[in-house]
Amino acid sequence: MQAEALETLLGRVVVAPQLEAWVAPSPVPLWEALEARTGSLLPPPFFAHAWPGSLALVEALRADAGLVAGRSVLDFACGGALAGIVAAQFGARVCCNDIDPLALATAQLNARLNRVELETRLGDLIGDDDGWQVLLVGDVFYEAPLAARVTAWLDGLAARGALVLVGDPGRQFLPLDRVSLVSTHSLAPNPAWDSVTDRPARVWRWRTP
Ligand SMILES: C[S@@+](CC[C@H](N)C(=O)[O-])C[C@H]1O[C@@H](n2cnc3c(N)ncnc32)[C@H](O)[C@@H]1O
Repeated sequence: MQAEALETLLGRVVVAPQLEAWVAPSPVPLWEALEARTGSLLPPPFFAHAWPGSLALVEALRADAGLVAGRSVLDFACGGALAGIVAAQFGARVCCNDIDPLALATAQLNARLNRVELETRLGDLIGDDDGWQVLLVGDVFYEAPLAARVTAWLDGLAARGALVLVGDPGRQFLPLDRVSLVSTHSLAPNPAWDSVTDRPARVWRWRTP
C-alpha cells in the first residue's frame, strides 16, 4: 500500500511536545480497513499507536540528548518510529527496523511530519550486528518467543559495548534481571490500545552480562 493511501486511514496527532504522529484511535477499524483495501490478511496495525514504551524513550532522550547525539542508532521494532525520530532530531544517524512494511511506511510519514530523515530496514534483524552504538527498543517484551530471541541478541550487543535502552510499560516478558532502571514516566494510556490503566512506563538500560 502506498504511503499516501495509508495516510488517509490515519489521523495526525500531537503525541508529545514537538512530536506529531499518524495514529488511529483504536486498532480494529483500521485493521479491517487495511485488510479490505489490500485484500490480504494482515498483522495487527501496531504501527498506528504511540506505545508507552516509545513515549518513555522519547522523554528519556529529551532529558539526556547525549545518549544519542551524533551516534548510530537502531530503532528496533520501530512501529511508527517515534523514539527514532527524536533521536534523529538530536543529531543521531537512525535506522528504523520492523517486520511490518506498513510500520516502515508510517515511520517515513512520521519522519516527514517531524522534518527528519531516517533509514528504514524491513525484516527480522534479530541476531544481526551492524555496529550500532545505541539500540532503542520500545515495547517488544509482550510475547515469550519474541522476548527470548531479543534477550539473547541484546545480551550480545550490550556485551560488545552497545548502549541498549528499553522502553517498557511493565510487560510480562521483560527480563528484569538483565536491566537497570534509568527513568520512570507517568503517561496517560489509551484504553483502546493499551492493556494498562495507570501503570507508569519505564526506561531500562541493558546490563553487560
Ligand atoms: C507494540 S509495537 C511497538 C512499536 C514501537 N517500538 C513503539 O514502542 O511504539 C511492536 C512492534 O514490534 C514489531 N516486531 C515484532 N517482531 C519483530 C521482529 N522480529 N523484528 C522487528 N520488528 C518486530 C511489530 O511489527 C510492531 O511494530
